[in-house]
Amino acid sequence: MNADSSRDIQVWDPALRLFHWTLAGSFLVAYVTEDDWQWLHVNAGYLIGILILLRLVWGFVGPRYARFSDFVRTPREVLAYARDAVRFRAPRYVGHNPAAGAMVVALLVCLMLTVLTGIALYGATDFAGPLAGLWRGEVAADVLEEIHEAGANLTLFLVVLHLGGVLFTSREQGENLVKSMITGRKKGAQA
Ligand code: HEM
Repeated sequence: MNADSSRDIQVWDPALRLFHWTLAGSFLVAYVTEDDWQWLHVNAGYLIGILILLRLVWGFVGPRYARFSDFVRTPREVLAYARDAVRFRAPRYVGHNPAAGAMVVALLVCLMLTVLTGIALYGATDFAGPLAGLWRGEVAADVLEEIHEAGANLTLFLVVLHLGGVLFTSREQGENLVKSMITGRKKGAQA
C-alpha cells in the first residue's frame, strides 16, 4: 500500500460516464420500443451506433482507464482472473478487471452487430435510413430480422451478466462500483 492508497482518485472520466449512462438508457429504450414506437426505436439505435463509434475512438485517445490497452486482456488472463474471483482471491484493479474488460468488448461487439443489422433491416423493409434499398426481398429481410433480434437478446443476456459481475465484484472488493460509475471516483490503491 502506498501513501496515496486511501485517497479517492478519478478513474472514470466524464465522457466515459456520459457514454455509459446514455448507452444504458438508449439500449433500454431501443429494447422496449422494438415494434411499437418505430421512430423512437430507430433513433435510439442510431444513438447507440454513434456512442459506440465515439467509444472506439476514446479507447485509443482517451485517458488511461478508458483505453483498450488498459483493460483488454488475453482469454487466458480473463480465465485466470475468473478462477481467482470465484475463489474470492482476485487482485483488485482500479480500472476494468480482465473479466470486466472482456465484457466491455463483448457488449460493444454485440451492440454494433445489432445496430448494423437494424440499419440494414430498416433499409430492406422501409426503404429508409443510410442502407435504404441495399438489400431487397423477403428472404433478406427475414434473415436480417433474425440476426437483429438474436443480437438484441444476446446483448440483454450480456447486460444481465454485466450487472451480476458488477454486484459480485462490488461485494468481493468491498467497493460500490455503481457509485464509482456515477461519481467517477474509486479508492486509490492499485493491484
Ligand atoms: C442499471 C444498469 C447498469 C449499471 C448499474 C451498470 C454499471 C456499470 C459499472 C459499475 C461499470 C464499471 C465496471 C467496472 O468497474 O469495471 C460499467 C461499465 C460498462 N457498462 Fe454498465 N451498467 C448498467 C447498464 C449497462 C447497460 C444496459 C449497458 C449496455 C447496453 C452497459 C454497458 C457498459 C459498458 C460498455 C461498460 C464499460 C464502460 C467503458 O469503459 O466505456 N451497462 N457499468
